[in-house]
Parts: sequence; structure tokens; C-alpha cells
Amino acid sequence: MRLSGGVRTVGAIALWSLLSTLAIAAPGSSNTARSKLSTPWTDEANSAPVPLADYPRPQLVRKDWLALNGRWDYMGGASLPNPANGQSSPPSFPRNPESIKVPFPPESFLSGIMRDLEINMWYRRTFEVPRQWNQGRGWNNGPGWGWGPGGHGPGSQRGRVLLHFEAVATNSVVYLNGRQVGQHRGRWESFTFDITDLLRPGDNTLVVGANDPHDGLTSEGKNDIDQGDYTFTSGIWQTVWLEPVPDSHIRELTIRPNLQESKVSVQTNVSGSRGTVKVSVLANGRTIGSGRGGNGTEVTISIPNARSWSPDDPFLYDLQVQILDFRGSVVDEVTSYFGLRSISLGEAGGKLHPLLNGRFVMQLGPLDQGYWPDGIQTSPTDTAIQNDLQNMKDLGFNLIRKHAKVEPQRWYYWADKMGLLVWQDMPSMWYPDNQLPWEWQTIIHQHYNAPSIVTWVPFNENWGAYDVARITAWTKSLDPSRLVNGNSGYNNAPGYRPAPGDPGNGDFDDRHNYPGPGDVPEPSATRAAALGEFGGVGLMIEGHMWPGVNHTAYEMQPSVQALTSRFVELQNDLDPFIQERGLGAAVYTQLSDVEHEVNGVLTYDRKVRKIDFAKARVAVKRAIEAGNRLAKRMEGYEGKEGL
Ligand SMILES: *[C@@H]1O[C@H](CO)[C@@H](O)[C@H](O)[C@H]1NC(C)=O
Ligand SMILES: *[C@@H]1O[C@H](CO)[C@@H](O)[C@H](O)[C@H]1NC(C)=O
Ligand SMILES: *[C@@H]1O[C@H](CO)[C@@H](O)[C@H](O)[C@H]1NC(C)=O
Repeated sequence: MRLSGGVRTVGAIALWSLLSTLAIAAPGSSNTARSKLSTPWTDEANSAPVPLADYPRPQLVRKDWLALNGRWDYMGGASLPNPANGQSSPPSFPRNPESIKVPFPPESFLSGIMRDLEINMWYRRTFEVPRQWNQGRGWNNGPGWGWGPGGHGPGSQRGRVLLHFEAVATNSVVYLNGRQVGQHRGRWESFTFDITDLLRPGDNTLVVGANDPHDGLTSEGKNDIDQGDYTFTSGIWQTVWLEPVPDSHIRELTIRPNLQESKVSVQTNVSGSRGTVKVSVLANGRTIGSGRGGNGTEVTISIPNARSWSPDDPFLYDLQVQILDFRGSVVDEVTSYFGLRSISLGEAGGKLHPLLNGRFVMQLGPLDQGYWPDGIQTSPTDTAIQNDLQNMKDLGFNLIRKHAKVEPQRWYYWADKMGLLVWQDMPSMWYPDNQLPWEWQTIIHQHYNAPSIVTWVPFNENWGAYDVARITAWTKSLDPSRLVNGNSGYNNAPGYRPAPGDPGNGDFDDRHNYPGPGDVPEPSATRAAALGEFGGVGLMIEGHMWPGVNHTAYEMQPSVQALTSRFVELQNDLDPFIQERGLGAAVYTQLSDVEHEVNGVLTYDRKVRKIDFAKARVAVKRAIEAGNRLAKRMEGYEGKEGL
């Protein structure tokens, strides 16, 4: 793993945030109930006054922020007012309300609630805006409010305060000091409100309502209503935070790396008054190029001695983006990063393959569902995320298929840093309607800058798949810089839903076979071939399994030794398909056990490696090397570069 300057910056911010949030956090009483199954991070998460206090938006970093994670007042239940109705004022709370630990969902141990199907959830806490944010701004005239010149950000900007939610499931409504701030619908996306005009000196009271009917009418992923596999989670499930910004500030960056021409284009979306945007590219802390442009225009910067990003060398360039006023003073500044890499389809061995940086790289990695026995859909700590990804690197994998879930930004940040290619699924929705395309478009938009993401997967098997060819083509139109795998495993269509069949378009013909490899597709003139799921071989490790369920796998093995042999055999079985029949990608089920499924390479509690990693790594590396040999045979051939 290569750590560049960006990591240290983020670390420093996290510490600052922790120090400043500790001062205002509600007393951090920890949960005294026992967890059904603990991870190595359960105790740390349970005792932290402010859990998951890591900078939540590593691709657009500002110095100041405040995590609102921690203890909130809570009430939940189907009989409570429905937040989806968007009432103009919040309901009243009982005198001694329950307490929940945000951002863990109420179903989870770490939330301190551990109840299923709350349906209507209400959260309340108070916060103070840190005084130092207010220097020279004059948001308000209250005592201790708006004093002193200088302070955050140069110039005489008054500034705004933004309230960010990284994700709340699924219909939410937000109130500040008794007034409605706004509403949001969707499980997987971040959203933001400008709360400046409702802020007061001293305590501000924030109330968040969330309604999650679990009716299959919103995207629920593996929690799908009729086929619900694992514990359904709802409510606030990612970080809530505050951020001070100048009036004129950078809202979004769209970063387009261009490896072929050794340059990067950065489009900046600015809110507020006009100014010049200055973009600088840094390598190992040194500025190597910069350019200027207006709001919304693309600034293109050449990169001398370009170094490409890949799983073997996940080199990231840093970005600094500033808004300058007419005097040239800095009005706003953010940092970000990018990887210089290209994704395309091209020929290797006479057949169409997925290319990385113009060359075929066999994509091999686990199916990863992102569930935890203590936080369910919320990882207990940031270290827990790193640990999952590092384990996959240790196995020699270069790919992760993020299955039926969208993760917090930090998960993709670590994939970018450590060097893993990511296939991103749209989490399935049981009864499709217009919500799905809207949510999918937003997910693609919000994760557009992640170098790790190489393929979008709108549908899995027949899980709520509909209009597949149309949505596949539409997905490609939203992001032509990546590959689109329209329906991973269209052949695997159990009887509980109609089977849409092969969409015929997109960039992959993708089938699922358990344990496999089985009937592996071959490339056509327009599509590469993928085995989007195989493996699924199980092993029960007593003391490390989710209690109260019948444990299953597609095939069961009796010991670590036997599972290792089977794992090695399955990777070796890929060889003829890679060497002779054009297989370009394969996804092994799966990263960890998940509740009743015991077919992970790690136990559900992440405490035991269920296969011998040294032996498994040899087999994984051999399969990837088979792809490299094919690519070398084609050396000199420049693949059909994508956009
Ligand atoms: C600019 O950013 C805002 C806030 O994120 C967003 O609503 C808007 O659509 C963006 N504009 C463009 C042109 O992308
Ligand atoms: C900057 O561009 C965005 C997107 O076109 C627009 O929403 C915003 O109002 C613009 N800001 C200014 C200051 O012109
Ligand atoms: C486990 O399987 C047995 C036998 O099929 C069944 O009777 C029982 O209800 C199952 N338990 C759970 C928790 O599903």
C-alpha cells in the first residue's frame, strides 16, 4: 500500500475532529447488552463517544468539519408519526427518550437499540457551531457570536454552514430549531442542506425523521422484501456532519483523467458569486502543473512523466482547487486526488477483453456484500474497512465486486489507495419504478471520481431486473468512461421472479455458476466474457458464525485444508478459459460469511481466515498471470481505447 500526502492530511483532520467533537458530545454511555457476534472492532466502536469520526468525503476535503455521530435521543415504531409525510414541525419526544448511537442502524448491536422493523424513526440532538468557524463572518449577533477579524477563510466572506448526511434509509425529513430544513428519499446517497439561516448562538436542536417501510418500493439490495436474505437495516446509517464554507464555494469536482494524452481535466461546480478557479496537480507533495478557468468550465492540465494507476501501482495524484477573487485572494480551497488510468474493451488473443491502461488485465476478486455482525450495514470502524480490503490484497486479488450495496465514500477511498478494481452494483429493488433510475444516476454521479470503480452493474440476476437493455444503454450514456455490465448472471434466474434473459448489449456477457466454472461465456464482437459469480464453497467455524440461523453454502467442506484445496482447484479451473476462451473477469463468492451464508474466505466476525492465504494467493496470482501471458502475446497491439 502506497501512502501519499493525502492520507496524512486526512488523518490530521480526523484527529482535529475527534478533539473538537469530544468537547460537545453527549455523555458516551456504551451499550451494555451483549452482541450476538463481535468483530475485533466492536468494543472500540461501542465505547467511542463519536464513532466513525474519520473525514467522510476524501475526494473533496476542507480543513474544518464537525462529526455529529454519537448519542442522539431516539424513538421508533410503526405507530409514530410517519416522517415521509413531511410535516412542517417535528413531533415531541417523551421526557426520557431512548438513546441511539449514530450512525449505526437501530437493528444493529452497536446502535444500542437492536430492534427490527422500526418503520418510523425519530432522532434528536443538540449541537453548537464551533466558535472558530464564525470568526469574521457575523452569521448572527448573539453573545459570543461573530467576533474578531480574520479567522477561517480570507476576505470578508460571511460564510455558510452545511449539514451533510452521508446516507439515511429511506424517506427522511430534517428540522433545525423546530423548522423544516428539507426532505430526502433514497437509501444510498449523500445529501446536504444549507442551514445557515436557521442557526442560533449556543445550542441548536436537530431532529431527523426516517421512514423505511421495507415494502420493496425502494432499492433495498440483499434486504429485498420477499427474498430478504439478511437483517434489514433502516434509518441513519452513515456519518452526519457539519461544514463551514465561504459564500462562494466549490460544490463538486468532476475529474476526467486522460492517460493516452497524459492530462487531466477538472470541472468545478461553484456556488455563490463569480470568481476564477485555479486547479493544481501535485505528485508526492510537489506541484507539477496548474491551470485556471471559470465556474463550470473544464481546466485541463498536462502531466509530465505520467505515472498510471493500477492495482500493482496505485499511484494517486493530489489536486488542489481554489476559488480566487478579482484581487487574486483565495476565497475557497479544497483538496482531492485522482488516478491516471483508462478503462476500455480491446482485443487480446484475438478476443475482446476488458483493458486497463490499454492492456488486458485478468480481473479476479471476491463478491463483497459489506455486512457486519455488530453494525450490519455500517462498518464498526474505518479500520474494519481497511482490514477487509487489505485481506483481499493479501490474497492477490485485483478486483472486488461490491454487491447489492453502495458503501460510504471512505470505502472507495481505501480501494483507490490500496489499488483494487471495483465493480459497483446498483442494489436491487423488488418492485421497480422510477426511483431506481433516479437513485442509480445519483450513485454514479457521486462516485464518478473514484479511480477504483471500473464497471457499473445495474442489475444482478433476476433480482428486480426490468427493461435491462434500455437501462444498460442509459447507464453507458451516463458514464461512457467506464464499462457497463447490464445484467450480471442473467442465466441464474430462480423462479421467484420473471427472468429477463440476456440483454445482448453492454460490455459483458456475464454468467453465474456455482460452484463453477461451468458454462463460461465467450467474448463476442461487442462484449467481453465474465464469470460474475462462482465458488460459494462453505466451511463452518464454530464460535464465529451468526447464531439462530441454518448455515448454508452451495457446497460444504469439512476443514480449512479441504476448503483451501477446493479454492485452489477452482482458481486453477479458470486457466483454460482465460488462456483459450477469452474469459476476462471472474468473481469468487465471497469475501466473508454473511449471517446464514458460510461461504466466505473470512468468517463473518472477520476473526478467522478460512483458507490458507499463502496457498490461495499462489492460485490467484497464477490465474492473473495467465491473463498477463495472453496480454504479452499481443504486445505492440494498442487496444481500442475508451473515452
Ligand atoms: C452543482 O452542484 C449542485 C450541488 O451539488 C448540484 O445540485 C448541481 O446539479 C450541480 N450542477 C451541475 C451542472 O453539475
Ligand atoms: C456555477 O455553475 C453551476 C452549474 O452550471 C451553477 O449552478 C451555478 O449557479 C454557477 N455559479 C455561478 C457563480 O455562476
Ligand atoms: C432450520 O432448518 C430446520 C429444518 O429444515 C427448520 O425446521 C428450522 O425452522 C430452520 N431454522 C431456521 C431458524 O430457519
